[in-house]
Amino acid sequence: MRLAGKHAIITGAGSGIGRASALLFAQEGASIVAADINLQSAEATARDIRQQGGKGRGVACDVTKASDIDALIETARQQFHQIDIVFNNAGVPMAFTPLEEVTEDLWDTIMAVNVKSLFLMCRAVIPIMKDQQSGVILNTSSTAAVRPRPGLTPYNASKGAVSVLTGSLALELAPFHIRVNAINPVAVDTPMLNEFIGAPSESGIQAGRQQFADTIPLGRLATPRDIAFAALYLASDEAALVTGTCLDVAGGRTV
Ligand SMILES: NC(=O)c1ccc[n+]([C@@H]2O[C@H](COP(=O)([O-])OP(=O)(O)OC[C@H]3O[C@@H](n4cnc5c(N)ncnc54)[C@H](O)[C@@H]3O)[C@@H](O)[C@H]2O)c1
Repeated sequence: MRLAGKHAIITGAGSGIGRASALLFAQEGASIVAADINLQSAEATARDIRQQGGKGRGVACDVTKASDIDALIETARQQFHQIDIVFNNAGVPMAFTPLEEVTEDLWDTIMAVNVKSLFLMCRAVIPIMKDQQSGVILNTSSTAAVRPRPGLTPYNASKGAVSVLTGSLALELAPFHIRVNAINPVAVDTPMLNEFIGAPSESGIQAGRQQFADTIPLGRLATPRDIAFAALYLASDEAALVTGTCLDVAGGRTV
């Protein structure tokens, strides 16, 4: 097993990429704290982990709130006594909007969930990882950081910040044997994708999905498992010399 004996916190674990990663990490031997703003969905992921024979616990956490993050870290610490992997995956999308029509509220929400959350989580967990002299921080960025689509400027900018934070923190934490990496997924078949498409009808959603797929050289959307396998590699000791990387899982879209 590739994560035997490891303890992991995964945010946004109630759906999509976070849920698929939680299930896969658990299959590979990790104990999981599955965190999500939606407690029911976090608990459903944890229940499925336990049903497949793994160790999982669901926790409510709004990643934009320092008090929630601190409580999450404390829960994990009490349960595990060690935190090996933190996967900052929770994020929010936006519908295509010209920048001049973007409200301050939308801008602030995107930046709070997609960027500030990483600051809060890393600030809380770094002292623990420094004490351990080990740890892996993994962030979900996006191809939006590398090859932005017009009409999504706040989202693209937020993922650009995730990617730069990843590299910067990788250098800062390398002396403590803490690795920091990110994944750049292309359009993934999760509930979030429909929110990006923002079409009112099923046929509009299907057309939007096809338009996304048509921009991907390998000819299909990503699945949550495609991203989870990349996360598994980066979280595992197989990636012991990999830090500061933003790994495209993009079917060739970023070439
Ligand atoms: N789906 C895509 O096309 C795509 C592409 C590139 C990157 N991403 C990124 O992947 C990550 C996961 O997205 P997904 O596609 O699995 O979406 P998803 O909608 O399936 O899952 C996102 C999860 O994050 C949770 N969440 C939202 N706000 C939160 C908060 N404040 N605190 C805690 N949890 C919160 C939601 O409840 C949900 O369970 C995000 O960071 C997203 O930006 C997605």
